[in-house]
Amino acid sequence: MKRVFSGVQPTGNLHIGNYLGALKQFVELQEDHECIYCVVDMHSITVPQDPKELKQHTLDIAALYMAVGVDPKKSIIFAQSTVPGHAELNWILTCNSYTGELSRMTQYKQKSHGAESAPTGLFMYPVLMAADILLYDTDIVPVGNDQKQHIELTRDLAIRVNNKYGETFVVPEGRFMKAGARVMALDDPTAKMSKSAPNEMSRISLLDEPSKIKKAIMRSTTDSDGVIRFDIDNKPGISNLLSIYSAFSGKTIEQLEKDYEGSGYGQFKKDLVEVTVDALSPIRERFLEIRGSQELIDAMKNGTERANAIAEPVIKRVKDRFGLGI
Ligand code: TYM
Repeated sequence: MKRVFSGVQPTGNLHIGNYLGALKQFVELQEDHECIYCVVDMHSITVPQDPKELKQHTLDIAALYMAVGVDPKKSIIFAQSTVPGHAELNWILTCNSYTGELSRMTQYKQKSHGAESAPTGLFMYPVLMAADILLYDTDIVPVGNDQKQHIELTRDLAIRVNNKYGETFVVPEGRFMKAGARVMALDDPTAKMSKSAPNEMSRISLLDEPSKIKKAIMRSTTDSDGVIRFDIDNKPGISNLLSIYSAFSGKTIEQLEKDYEGSGYGQFKKDLVEVTVDALSPIRERFLEIRGSQELIDAMKNGTERANAIAEPVIKRVKDRFGLGI
């Protein structure tokens, strides 16, 4: 069985971009892969966090994993900081990375705003991500498009170490959805939907009430030509809504274009509200059941044990290759 690893940062509520780009894949893959899903709490402290909130968010993301259908009996669910191998491998990989390649990472450039001095953690973020992935001999990494460059760096680091020290790491591959790999903001379809955008109406969170979902979709930015057609360059708003509709309903974009031939944006948006509410309501209900439950704590503790059992021999192998220890 191929091994799958992915992670999500515990920063607030997740949105439909996180779900359609990543979490939906988590659920699909667990049927015939060995899956490890991490809440990357150490990544989130690259920017200051309130300690109490961070702990709660970590539990909430794990609860959301389970609410969307990740089954802790099939998949491993755990918090990154509870497996020491992440930090150990992080250092070893740090010593095999270059400041040049890290300063080319677009997420770093965006987050540091080109400042001369930025938090070191932000700069090193992609190396810790590579450590997460390589620690488990991962074959497949299901993520959204925005993580492509980080996966490339992970592969580069793995190949570099393998060439220098002999076969040490499995070289992983990214896995991206057809519809959903890059969900755009509802108020500005040229920007990625994000957890941190100030306008609440730019995104739909997995736990939003139906009334909020309706408002955000009905107000979403489109264009004035009134034709429901997929055309990213000229009709980014409608194209984004078509992708979301397709991802939630399972209908192809071509099918949707046919279904809505001759109808206006109003009807299309109304139907999209229904499809979205139907998809998210069970997630919300299940989340409220799992949040604060013993089931959640037990699943995460068990996940830590199982993750550690996979990570320990890998760390041992890596240390041997590098001549670390006695
Ligand atoms: P994070 O927490 O920002 O996002 C979690 C997942 O959601 C995807 N995503 C999107 N997909 C489609 N459309 C969007 N608008 C959108 N926004 C976010 C992300 O691509 C991601 O898959 N660096 C990672 C966390 C991480 C990780 C890892 C992932 C740490 N270590 C190891 C995989 C493997 C991140 O910040 O994701």
